[in-house]
Amino acid sequence: MKIVSKNLGETNKIAEDFSNKIKNPLGRPQGEEASATVVGLFGDLGSGKTTFTQALGKILGVKEVMTSPTFVIEKRYDLDGRFGFKRLVHIDAYRLEKGKELLSLNFIEDTTNSENLILIEWPERVGDVLPADLVPINFKFISEFEREIEY
Ligand SMILES: Nc1ncnc2c1ncn2[C@@H]1O[C@H](COP(=O)(O)OP(=O)(O)OP(=O)(O)O)[C@@H](O)[C@H]1O
Ligand SMILES: [Mg+2]
Repeated sequence: MKIVSKNLGETNKIAEDFSNKIKNPLGRPQGEEASATVVGLFGDLGSGKTTFTQALGKILGVKEVMTSPTFVIEKRYDLDGRFGFKRLVHIDAYRLEKGKELLSLNFIEDTTNSENLILIEWPERVGDVLPADLVPINFKFISEFEREIEY
């Protein structure tokens, strides 16, 4: 699906459609087989990765204001489970050099919990630890208010 968003309202709508795509199906494996849903947000500076994550968080039930995790690398939010997720983990890997740096943030443990939705900006920086079933979204800056979003 490739869409050009012309304003924030359209980006919200795209986030809503995407939320239905990743809705965690009941009966998702638990225990040994369990794995989080990990979304990779690819795209240049200012292409809308954080804005999209904020819109998605709101849809999934995040109550707090979601600010960019650029400086803290990772932010964690509780969810109410409506979409099958109990926690949203928002990571900005821009300042990281390799995936190993994520391991100190409990990344492995987080990815083995099917109740987690993990969204990673700049996933290419930590390509060595991304799961094979990463769900990619590509963002492109078109003009001041236009962003192409493809998933
Ligand atoms: N149609 C649109 N959809 C989303 N954001 C838009 C749109 N038009 C303009 N914007 C603006 O573009 C900016 C996108 O910034 P955002 O922080 O989301 O980018 P980013 O991809 O996370 O960048 P970074 O790599 O620096 O973290 C915001 O200021 C937002 O208001
Ligand atoms: Mg960002």
